[in-house]
Amino acid sequence: MKLKSFTFLKSSEKVSQCPSGKLPEYAFIGRSNVGKSSLINCLANHKNLAKVSSKPGKTQLINHFEVISETDVEKMWHLVDLPGYGYAVVSKKKRVKWAGFIEEYLLQREQLTNVFVLVDSRLEPQKIDLEFIQWLGEEGLPFSIVFTKIDKNKTQKLKTNIENYRKRLQEDWDELPVMFYTSATEGEGKADLLGYIDKVNMSL
Ligand code: GTP
Ligand code: MG
Repeated sequence: MKLKSFTFLKSSEKVSQCPSGKLPEYAFIGRSNVGKSSLINCLANHKNLAKVSSKPGKTQLINHFEVISETDVEKMWHLVDLPGYGYAVVSKKKRVKWAGFIEEYLLQREQLTNVFVLVDSRLEPQKIDLEFIQWLGEEGLPFSIVFTKIDKNKTQKLKTNIENYRKRLQEDWDELPVMFYTSATEGEGKADLLGYIDKVNMSL
């Protein structure tokens, strides 16, 4: 899918402040520093539309972007950059607050069409990611997994890590979710992600 425009819409502290309307919405979530904002900038072909930082915890609000595809300007959709979860340095109270409003957004946002869970392709399956994925499943929220930073791996290491992830998920799930392999710096996986969103939008 080619995009006609990709623009920042608004930041919200809670779900009640999120944009009104019924456009299909896709959310990016994952541990702090996994590369959510970078991947959004990559999709948007824009260097700093979403704020990127080497210091975890940069995104602290629900950030809405409005996307219009080139082929069908009628088909607008929203992309949402959510704050990272599970970063230990921020105070416990703040972390709980994040979890609360993220959870509220995920459970209450009716037009939420798919959650993209970003996981770092360099790491073994992380407990907090597995717990979050489990929770999504229990709540019946549709999700996909997006491996990030694949440029930072050697080919064999990447294969091993992804295989480990698949095996770990197969312990809990009969059917594996759709998976994407991305690099925000190289643009890898971008066409797959946008193609998938396009396909889902068409089916709505
Ligand atoms: P929070 O908003 O804090 O939750 O972080 P985030 O998930 O939005 O991560 P962000 O996009 O800010 O990226 C974190 C760091 O990883 C930055 O230093 C990025 O430059 C780096 N990074 C992100 N994606 C990639 C990638 O695909 N390849 C490489 N090499 N670095 C990346
Ligand atoms: Mg961010």
